[in-house]
Amino acid sequence: MELKIYRDKNEVAKQFSEYFSGLVEGKSIFHVALSGGSTPKIVFDLLAADFSSKIDWSKIHFYWGDERCVPPTDDQSNYKMTVAHLFSKVDVSQEHIHRILGENDPHTEAKRYGKLLAEQLPLLNETPQFDLVILGMGDDGHTASIFPHEIELWDSNENCEVAIHPDSGQRRVTLTGKVINNTKEVVFLVTGESKSEKITAILEKKEGHMDYPASLVHPKSGSLVWFMDTDAAKELT
Ligand code: 6PG
Repeated sequence: MELKIYRDKNEVAKQFSEYFSGLVEGKSIFHVALSGGSTPKIVFDLLAADFSSKIDWSKIHFYWGDERCVPPTDDQSNYKMTVAHLFSKVDVSQEHIHRILGENDPHTEAKRYGKLLAEQLPLLNETPQFDLVILGMGDDGHTASIFPHEIELWDSNENCEVAIHPDSGQRRVTLTGKVINNTKEVVFLVTGESKSEKITAILEKKEGHMDYPASLVHPKSGSLVWFMDTDAAKELT
């Protein structure tokens, strides 16, 4: 595991964009699962502004680590956010965008998406293997859309599951630990003071840290890198 700590969220976005560009370079095809949330939004803006001609976007296949069960036109949609901040500004191949169909029945879509991953991605341990999974972490320690109140979803035998947001009751389709921990590179993008307590609990294995889904991210044969700002890292010893 590697920690990369930078002065603020904009520097996190800049450094991650360089890192992402380096990962993609020289690859003929690249499969990445994107995250929703505020930090990825800043990353997408920066990739669009400074990397539109530095990255061969046509060789990247885009997926999501989780999606809200809403139509793609809904402001809650991670897909809609990604189109607004990235896909509308760089030369991606439309047929390489594999969105989770938030408008469909959640359980039907979780099965469909799990099957699509098995068809589109190389398999390791008979499980789809991403080149990169980008994750955020909620203030409650959730990641993707695996929340503490239903942390058992992490250990599902399925590639995807249907989760329920603890406050809003909104349903989500999410990758499970089976896929996330099968990835070549997992990157957390975590910024802001509100994350510092959970990040410290997880990274310093404090009492109760195993109750936070983000603490379960340990790629079996891949790497894990935390990109964070000094606010999120401020309680680390
Ligand atoms: C989502 C994200 C979610 C997000 C965390 C952190 O669909 O909302 O996948 O898991 O990464 O909630 O969000 P922030 O980066 O905005 O704090």
